[in-house]
Formats: sequence, structure tokens, C-alpha cells
Amino acid sequence: MKKILVTGGAGFIGSHTVIELINAAYIPVIIDNFTNSDRKVIKRLEKLAGTPIANYEQDCQDIEKLSDVIDTENITGIVHFAAYKQVEESVSYPLKYYSNNVSGLIDILKLANNKRVRNFVFSSSCTIYGNPDQLPVTEDSVVKPPESPYGSTKQMGENILKDVVKASNSMNALSLRYFNPIGAHPSALIGELPNGVPANLVPFVTQTAAGLRNKLVVYGNDYPTKDGSCERDYIHVIDLAKAHVKALSYLETNKPRIYDVVNIGTGRSTSVLELIKLFEEVTGKKLNYEIGPRRSGDIISTYAAVNKAKDLLGWTSQKSLADALKDAWRWQQTLV
Ligand code: WQD
Repeated sequence: MKKILVTGGAGFIGSHTVIELINAAYIPVIIDNFTNSDRKVIKRLEKLAGTPIANYEQDCQDIEKLSDVIDTENITGIVHFAAYKQVEESVSYPLKYYSNNVSGLIDILKLANNKRVRNFVFSSSCTIYGNPDQLPVTEDSVVKPPESPYGSTKQMGENILKDVVKASNSMNALSLRYFNPIGAHPSALIGELPNGVPANLVPFVTQTAAGLRNKLVVYGNDYPTKDGSCERDYIHVIDLAKAHVKALSYLETNKPRIYDVVNIGTGRSTSVLELIKLFEEVTGKKLNYEIGPRRSGDIISTYAAVNKAKDLLGWTSQKSLADALKDAWRWQQTLV
């Protein structure tokens, strides 16, 4: 069975991907420094999987240790999640982001190259499209100048990967451009653990419903959208996790020196007000919310063109927004 290194494997998307890798008969090997995740996640993953999971508490930038892990575990592929992801924080601490997200990627790619690890999957983001000129957003859409150091690190990451694959004779890589990941595992054993006040909509919604926040503020209802609030493509984290498994299997079955980018979304657009209404319907919880001013830098409307993911990877999202909201709520209730 193939062993896959999952950097940031205790995080939100990483932990769900670990489970989907096991379901697909891979052996995941986690490295995580737990700066933005919880050590308890490992035990919960082992409980869910019903098997011990190799895991190393260490930083991706600790090259010597990482090198040992790749050798000891005989790694054949890497799914690289380990990165910082708070847009606002990145504006205040750009070097923190460039160091971890860009230097960290370069370090791990150097090792992958030297050790001839063939397959590499990178976490990219729809944030690189900015406010798209056309909807749905295809992979050929113009990549807009980044609006934050965070967005910049994702663009740089994609460019670095493309160049590294071109110059290599053994490596394959895919950048997955995630839309808005939400939800949790239906078992409610793993889910999102936001640090402090959540910046993202769904954790704020579930925390408000749980009484941990007073009120949800909807950032603007005067946009040129169906109901005036912003529109996004919300994707269940389990669907997103499965896309990584499909990405690995695509890379394995193709000759080396492939580099490509793929949107991972549902192809459906949902407004903030629609999401709130659906949350109330599926959970029976009334949300205390009010309309507030626009949030600076918000994209007005975006959703993914999903044909490439289907054609190239044989992947499409399976779960509904209602599933994702129910799972997010079930998970939230375990946290209070
Ligand atoms: C969604 C909508 C808000 C909070 C994030 C990342 C970005 C990329 C995609 C990863 C927006 C509105 C939110 C609240 C609200 N992911 N909102 N009240 O902005 O699409 O960006 O996902 O790379 O980098 O930052 O997601 O969840 O913050 O917002 O009205 O309290 O909810 O205005 O329209 P966003 P989000």
C-alpha cells in the first residue's frame, strides 16, 4: 500500500483527507506542529479509522527531521496542507505568511525532488481569481493581482510548483483551487476548530446558534447579486478531502512531469442570506443576525466551473449544502 505524507494532517481539511486516504487503501503519515490544530485530533482519527496512524509532531521547515520521515516511511506522495490561512492576519504579518507558506513549500519541494517523491498535491485557493470577470470561474480565468499576502502565497506556490515540475524528470503535481470548505465529519469526531473569533461565515453561524456569539452580522445586502448579499460556492469538507485522493490517483496513473490546476467546488452559488435561511430550516435554530456594512476586500460573487475536475479526476461533489450545515452544527454541539 502506498504511503502518503500529509503535512498539516491534524488541521481541518488535512484531518478529513487522512480518513479518505485510509478509506481508499492508502497509508497516511501525518506531520503537524499543532500550532493551529489540536493533538486530540490524532486520537480521534485513530478511533474513526479503527487503526493506528503514523504521526510526527514537527515543523515542515525542520528539514532534517522531515528528511528522516520521508526515508523511514518510504513516502511515495505528498499532500501539502501545512500553511497559515487567515487573510487579515496575513496583512499584519506578511513575513510570517511568506516564511511558512512559501519558504515551507520550497523546503519540502527540495526534499521531494532529492528523494524522488513522485506525486505532490498542493492546497491552492479560489482567492487567486479575485473578483472574477465571468461566472462560473474556469481554470483559464485570469489570475488577479493578489489582495493579501495570503493570496499572494497561493499564487507564488502555484508558480513555484509549475516551474519545479517543468525542470524535474520525476515529479508530478496538481494544485487544487478550493472554493469555500465547510462542514465536518458526520461522526462529529473531527471538524473545524477556529482560533478565537471566526472570520469565516459558517463557524460564526454555528457559534451564534450555540449562543457563543451574540449576533451574526451579514456583511452587506446591497451587492449586485440575487438578494444583495455576497455569493460563494460552499463545499463539504468530505467532498474536498475525496478530491485529494482522486488527485493522487490521477498523478500516479500518469507519466511524470504533469502539472495542472483544478477547481474544487460544487458549481453552485449560494448567497449569505440563503445560507442563513437553510441553516435555520435544517437545524430548527433561529439565528440572531442583522445586516451590517460591507467587509472590505470581499469578493461579490463566485462559483466554480467543475467540468475539469470531472473530466481529469473523475471527481464531483456529492454532498448538499444542507448536509454540510447539518454536519457543521452537529460538530459545533460537541464543542460547547
Ligand atoms: C463568506 C461570505 C462574507 C462572516 C474565505 C477565505 C479565502 C478562500 C475562500 C481559502 C462572505 C460573509 C462572513 C460573517 C458575513 N479560502 N460573512 N458575516 O470571504 O469567501 O473567504 O474562503 O483559501 O481565502 O478567506 O469566506 O467565510 O469569510 O465569507 O456576512 O461574520 O460570508 O462577507 O460574503 P470568503 P468567508
